Amino acid sequence: MRRIAVTGAAGHIAYSLLFQIGQGALFGDEPVQLELLDLPQHQKKLEGLAMELEDCAFGQLERVRCWSDPYLAFEGVDLALLIGAKPRGPGMERKELLQDNGKIFAMQGRALNEVAARHVQVVVVGNPCNTNAWIAQKEAPSLSPTQFYAMMQLDQNRLQVQLALQAGLPYEAVTHSLIWGNHSSTQVPDLYSSRIQGRPAIDQVAHPEQLLAAVQQRGAAIIAASGHSSAASAAHALVQTVRNIYQPTRAGHWFSLGIWSYGNPYGIDQDLIFGFPCRSRGEGRVEIAEVELHPALRERLKATEQELQEERQQVMGLVGEVARGCSL
Ligand code: NAD
Ligand code: LMR
Repeated sequence: MRRIAVTGAAGHIAYSLLFQIGQGALFGDEPVQLELLDLPQHQKKLEGLAMELEDCAFGQLERVRCWSDPYLAFEGVDLALLIGAKPRGPGMERKELLQDNGKIFAMQGRALNEVAARHVQVVVVGNPCNTNAWIAQKEAPSLSPTQFYAMMQLDQNRLQVQLALQAGLPYEAVTHSLIWGNHSSTQVPDLYSSRIQGRPAIDQVAHPEQLLAAVQQRGAAIIAASGHSSAASAAHALVQTVRNIYQPTRAGHWFSLGIWSYGNPYGIDQDLIFGFPCRSRGEGRVEIAEVELHPALRERLKATEQELQEERQQVMGLVGEVARGCSL
């Protein structure tokens, strides 16, 4: 049995995600228990959602509970999907959400530190997800920073799709697509590692700069078109992310994931949650994969690293409460 906490459970992404979890999208036939967390004012909405989940009579869904207190929602959880946060509006960058959203992840990091299962895996979706994941792990010193991830899979999927569209080929013709750095407009889609029909994508796209911009700005384009941020595609990417973390990666492949940068072989600052090519040995034993980094990407990697360093600087005041508490 897997106990899974989902925060922001009354929101748009969760509404698409939870029914997929009920159908076994994450752990197949294994039973799951859902711990849904949202703000006190959304508890009625959560209750309605729990009733809908029950009415599906999903064979694997053993139990659904609703919470407004993270210390109760996270008790003994194996997996925490941290979605709950404010989304950006038109014309905003994701990092503008830091001051509002950062506090949520500091508090939730402390709660996970106290009550989650010691092997918990934590995937942060709420934006800006890399720095929010960094905040959460800093506030959870009894867990390893390697248990905290930021979702980069949606960006990877967007790159795959744009490459296939430019090449006029089916999506499956594109493999090894890869995103480095921050889930922001400085992210680095890697056209050197990505392959179209087995060959480097860079040699096969007519307008690489246009393609990069389309991937980097896709989230904003969706907000401009629909009035709200991506939800179903984000939920789908989150399902893929969890499966990538728990299932052994096929030989010769990788996936994009924001992961603690300590010990990385690419010369990136050692204390960021940074998008890298990753591989899993199964059950959350994820490691940074070694791929050939094309020299042409160095400058872009520096820019996205610098943005993450600036975000980290901006939130320094939010972290350290656990350490301060211990010294009393
Ligand atoms: P939404 O506004 O529909 O739902 C957010 C939910 O979070 C709301 O129900 C809100 O009440 C809840 N919430 C707020 N503070 C909370 C707290 N402290 N504890 C528990 N719940 C809390 O938003 P959404 O569309 O579901 O998006 C959620 C977040 O995911 C946003 O920050 C959005 O920018 C981000 N996002 C990230 C990616 C990615 O690829 N990383 C993709 C899409 C969206
Ligand atoms: C996305 O990439 O769609 C999300 O991060 C939402 C956003 O703010 O763009």
